Amino acid sequence: MKPRVQPTSEEVTFLSDEIIVSKTDLKGRITYANATFSKICGYSRAELMNAPHSIIRHPDMPRCVFKLLWDQLGEEREIFAYVKNMTRNGAFYWVFAHVTPSFDNNGSVIGYHSSRRLPDRGVVREVIEPLYGALLQTEASYASPKDGLAASFAQLVNVVKSKAVSYDELIFSL
Ligand SMILES: Cc1cc2nc3c(=O)[nH]c(=O)nc-3n(C[C@H](O)[C@H](O)[C@H](O)COP(=O)(O)O)c2cc1C
Repeated sequence: MKPRVQPTSEEVTFLSDEIIVSKTDLKGRITYANATFSKICGYSRAELMNAPHSIIRHPDMPRCVFKLLWDQLGEEREIFAYVKNMTRNGAFYWVFAHVTPSFDNNGSVIGYHSSRRLPDRGVVREVIEPLYGALLQTEASYASPKDGLAASFAQLVNVVKSKAVSYDELIFSL
């Protein structure tokens, strides 16, 4: 069961040489979490095991970002994304995440793997927070969550298009 955690305004940060690592099954349930992950989010490694990755989902994250993540993973592509996560006690921490499929020897996807670093604070504040805030607002402005997601996803695609680059190029230009 996903615990009901109330978000607070407390920020948790970590060192630039620390890497938060997790692996999941095909449904996004955690099959491995490193000690750094556990230390920062406040859940023990035993608690994280088999929990849905959304256990650390922050309500400030627009759903369209996770749609993009799962769409790309579904196409067996890796993705880089800025993500705001929530700790066990409701604090938040920003990460720059790389998420990629894991393949077996036959080339079949057997799960997913993510490594996260400390993001550039200026990029988060000046670019990501305003963008995610606008996307979240779009999602909230629809009575139907499905319509809200479609609209915010289209908005995200248009932001990328307006820069005349791919999503990956945009993310790495920040
Ligand atoms: C390898 C991997 C790592 C993930 N890491 C995170 C993460 O750090 N934070 C997060 O909120 N969701 C993460 N997700 C996405 C979640 O599975 C989920 O889609 C997201 O939290 C939205 O949850 P919801 O659809 O229940 O709202 C990850 C998924 C995978 C496959």
